[in-house]
Amino acid sequence: MDSPRDWPEPIVRVQSLSEKCINTIPERYVKPPGVRPSLGSSPGDANIPLIDLGGIYDENLRETTLRHVSDACRDWGFFQVVNHGVSPDLMDRAREVWREFFHQPMEVKQAYANSPKTYEGYGSRLGVEKGAILDWSDYYYLHYLPCGLRDFNKWPALPNALREVIAEYSREIVRLGGVMLKIMSINLGLSEDYLQNAFGGDDVGACLRVNFYPKCPQPDLTLGLSSHSDPGGMTFLLPDQNVPGLQVRRDDDWITVKPAPHAFIVNIGDQIQVLSNAIYKSVEHRVIVNSSQERISLAYFYNPKSDLLIQPAKELVAPDKPALYPAMTFDEYRLYIRTKGPKGKSQLGESLKSPR
Ligand code: OGA
Ligand code: NI
Repeated sequence: MDSPRDWPEPIVRVQSLSEKCINTIPERYVKPPGVRPSLGSSPGDANIPLIDLGGIYDENLRETTLRHVSDACRDWGFFQVVNHGVSPDLMDRAREVWREFFHQPMEVKQAYANSPKTYEGYGSRLGVEKGAILDWSDYYYLHYLPCGLRDFNKWPALPNALREVIAEYSREIVRLGGVMLKIMSINLGLSEDYLQNAFGGDDVGACLRVNFYPKCPQPDLTLGLSSHSDPGGMTFLLPDQNVPGLQVRRDDDWITVKPAPHAFIVNIGDQIQVLSNAIYKSVEHRVIVNSSQERISLAYFYNPKSDLLIQPAKELVAPDKPALYPAMTFDEYRLYIRTKGPKGKSQLGESLKSPR
């Protein structure tokens, strides 16, 4: 199967729709009643775990910190980290250059319009199914690693600071990705370089999707991003500091994440679920929108080298714990999502849909 070359229908920018001040949304964005945001309760105070990663470097706190990460990976698949070593100022600048990008005139953004062949650039839909119900968001997608895929001409030239700020931000995320893989390897009882090696050593993949969720006149009828699990290794999400929207599935509830100041939201992707033989779960999540404020988020995907076979670690397979997944490359795996769009956890099988 080849990647599709073009969109099945003309692309409509959600931001343009939003700016028209209509008071009903087009039918294309109206979700079936069963998946609308109001359904499923949202337990008031629940939040994903918050972990002070600085404890890793303190002899007295190291064990406790490792355990916190381990519990979060097993029980939630989602957690926030603070004291992660990325400068708060850099995080703010990264978010703000992208906010500026999306607030430029449409012609400037259209110069980067993407296609489903690589998805790189300015986009407004995932998946190429004709007639699909769409999500209430636009995005910008770019590659940082492998170096061979990095093409600065596909990164916005404006605002002026964007390329430099995002290159620096990307370096920091890749460093943090390495730290997290080491922690997870140790916690799984593997050698500390196991996951990094399984990801391809220095040849990991790293790509950024900046999500832009415009104000929506009927937020109860639609979603900013439909329920999905992230197909790659691990995701570092920099959320909007002021506007909630991300919801994480916990059994039959949707927990709305309350972002801690300058925290990253970390989540396990499908490839780590496979490598850990489902000890760690890649959990479904979605984004709700609102009528009063736009929202922006930077989702950095830290992925295995795309042509390596990914399979459960031999150390985690035993007669009573058979390998739950066949070996598959990430390239083979993600073709499905790029064709079908975000669709829950259909790829890893219905039996694993529940996060616990
Ligand atoms: C994603 C994602 C969440 C958000 O881009 O995969 O889940 O809050 N984003 O934008
Ligand atoms: Ni996601």
